[in-house]
Amino acid sequence: MDSGHALRRGRFKREENLSLASSSTERLALSKTPPIVIAHRGACGYLPEHTLAAKALAHGMGADFMEQDVVLSRDGVALVLHDIHLDSTTDVAIKFPGRARTDGRFYAIDLDLPEIRELRVHERISVNAGTSAEAVYPQRFPSRPALFQVPTLEEEITMLAGLDRSRGCRTGLYIEFKAPDWHADQGLDLPGAVLAVLDKTGYADRPEQVFLQCFNDKTLRRMHEAGQTQLPMIQLIGENDWGEDGGVDFNYLRTPPGLSRVAEYAQGIGPFLPQIYLGKSDSGAVQLSNLVTTAQEKGLLVHPYTLRQDELPPGINSFSELLDVFVQRAGVDGLFTDFPDLVVDYMKTQHM
Ligand code: G3P
Ligand code: CA
Repeated sequence: MDSGHALRRGRFKREENLSLASSSTERLALSKTPPIVIAHRGACGYLPEHTLAAKALAHGMGADFMEQDVVLSRDGVALVLHDIHLDSTTDVAIKFPGRARTDGRFYAIDLDLPEIRELRVHERISVNAGTSAEAVYPQRFPSRPALFQVPTLEEEITMLAGLDRSRGCRTGLYIEFKAPDWHADQGLDLPGAVLAVLDKTGYADRPEQVFLQCFNDKTLRRMHEAGQTQLPMIQLIGENDWGEDGGVDFNYLRTPPGLSRVAEYAQGIGPFLPQIYLGKSDSGAVQLSNLVTTAQEKGLLVHPYTLRQDELPPGINSFSELLDVFVQRAGVDGLFTDFPDLVVDYMKTQHM
């Protein structure tokens, strides 16, 4: 496993602290590499997801990695966008009212880049036919007006590289291939388009600075076996009833033999929070699965998603308690969070 991902902000801080640690307790506390902070869709707890503004804010907050979910436009341009649809986060229904498919949804893959440029991005809303659209997180940034644009992957990388230079740091990319089999069915090669952007921007040979992630296990395995990239891969683990691309059996992937199979092509897993934190007992004791320890025994990093201040799991009363559970108790190697500033602050209070 590439320990280069032991990480920028955390690693340098830890090395400074090691020389200061005087007691055995302090040394023990510092013996594990601090978890990496992954800004989930940017600092999307504060600004609309996957906008350059949300990524710039997360950069300023000191996140180690920025997450990019990537889909393709009709002309094959890699866009930073969570959904294959445009209607939950943009004004596409107003700008291009006649472009919905028969299911009523507007697809990014049905618009060329010049058309995507005309769209404006807003805070995520729920799109339910026949009902008024509501903000998914009502306390976050207002869902109207739509102020922002859909960035291309190349634009976002260029901005982050610029910020790294002007702020004197090095931030990682954490890129997810969204529905690669569906893209292939539509005639487009999503992994190929992403790798081309990484090549062009100079990131294709920076394994310490890039993770590639996907729910579709066959996509990652195929890329590994074809030698398409040396960049580290993270196998995302969802639930079987989510209908994720590729028909993955996540229940199997979470078993010891399943994790051994993952370790053949990936450097880590990205599990769903409830697959690690199971709740509390009647006496209030935190209940954890053995997923983290089993995966780490196989040499896999564990980066769960998604820690949100405004969506705490059952039995958890504060964001700091949530962080205690995942960082101190479960011992994860990184965290996806909508609130990177709060996680960075927590790490400081824990001297990590
Ligand atoms: O990629 C980790 C996490 O973001 C997966 O969930 O739906 O937010 O992409 P999603
Ligand atoms: Ca994602």
